[in-house]
Amino acid sequence: MTQCLHDPKSDNITSTSGSEVILNPTQLLGKKLFFDTLLSNPTGQSCATCHMPKMSFTDPEQLPVSRGAMKSIFGHRNSPTVAYAAFTPYFHYDSIEEGYVGGLFWDGRAVTLEEQAKTPLLTQHEMNNTDKSMVVDHVMKAEYKDLFLNVYGANAFDDKEQAFENLAEAIEEFEETQEISPFNSKFDYYIKGQVKLTDEEMRGLKIFNDSLKGNCAACHPSTPDPFTNAILFTDFTYDNLGVPANPELIKLDKAYTPDLGLGAIVKQAKENGKFKVSTLRNIANTAPYFHNGVFKTLEEVMQFYNSRDSGKFGPPEVPENVNKDELGNLKLTDQEMKDVIAFMKTLSDGYKVSSE
Ligand code: HEC
Ligand code: HEC
Repeated sequence: MTQCLHDPKSDNITSTSGSEVILNPTQLLGKKLFFDTLLSNPTGQSCATCHMPKMSFTDPEQLPVSRGAMKSIFGHRNSPTVAYAAFTPYFHYDSIEEGYVGGLFWDGRAVTLEEQAKTPLLTQHEMNNTDKSMVVDHVMKAEYKDLFLNVYGANAFDDKEQAFENLAEAIEEFEETQEISPFNSKFDYYIKGQVKLTDEEMRGLKIFNDSLKGNCAACHPSTPDPFTNAILFTDFTYDNLGVPANPELIKLDKAYTPDLGLGAIVKQAKENGKFKVSTLRNIANTAPYFHNGVFKTLEEVMQFYNSRDSGKFGPPEVPENVNKDELGNLKLTDQEMKDVIAFMKTLSDGYKVSSE
């Protein structure tokens, strides 16, 4: 990930988070768990290893997928950002949208953040603990063990099954704080009327919203989410964009097979190849892009949306259910694509409004 966090000319963006947030004891416990590199087997990997604050809670390694605690083992998907994940609705079927909505992971298979947090702790290609008690045993020796007892009671380690539930809950509580989702990008200050967008950024926003131009807002709305009232740049629906296979994944794992995404979870062929619409908050800082990390830059992503149908990106990894209506041949000019990228760069957290 050599991708530049921000335009070096605009040095008013100092960090991706930048807000001082006061945490209650449960949230603080969750934070300590999130950053504890002793929680993996072998030790050395925490949640933050693949979801690092300075990379807007994604993986700093340049690989399309993350390395496990056992360093020769890889998963098959790019680490998404944890920022703003707390705003994800429960996984459900929406009869009006006529499709699935919400859930955590690229395929929605975890219903809540708490359920999600249990998975990497016990997954072989991630933190690789063999069972729940192995995780709890680590926590019982951790420097924050008293905090755990303080939050969950003096007997909190007696029932390891319950202790595991509790530690996942604490992680969820931390993930729900403003420390993870600060809403302090240039765009947020623009919405509040505290800064102006440049001409280029403004043109980009218009193209982004225009259904006859970029049409991005059809899936990445730039308006408040009806349930949380937050602007999240995802409607949490699922689509097969026709993303090409990433040959690097096959190099990392000879047993790699095409990723069916949502289809494999709900076991319906009509959902094959569909993945959850990503938030675009902090997008300039979270390369590589798409579920398989196939594109390294936002320029490539824009080219793909603009001219997928020219065929120059290779066939879709999953040829069924490809969305042919809303993308693939947008006919944007080079300048228009640059404008959209300039706009997307306003979505990076940690923007400092100058006091003049
Ligand atoms: C080895 C790297 C790695 C580690 C360690 C890791 N994750 Fe992840 N995380 C990923 C990947 C890859 C995905 C996407 C996997 C998928 O969709 O199947 C993911 C997905 C997520 C998501 C879903 C985001 C969304 O919007 O759908 C959350 C939340 C998350 N991780 C939190 C955590 C927490 C909490 C921990 C520690 C308990 C953790 N991760 C440890 C790599 C990692
Ligand atoms: C039909 C719905 C749809 C439209 C329209 C759409 N997107 Fe997306 N977008 C998605 C989905 C779904 C994903 C995740 C796909 C995947 O990984 O397979 C995604 C992913 C992305 C990503 C990568 C996110 C990441 O974290 O890796 C970027 C960047 C992006 N979109 C930008 C745009 C822009 C810019 C436009 C307009 C030109 C646009 N999108 C239009 C549905 C859409």
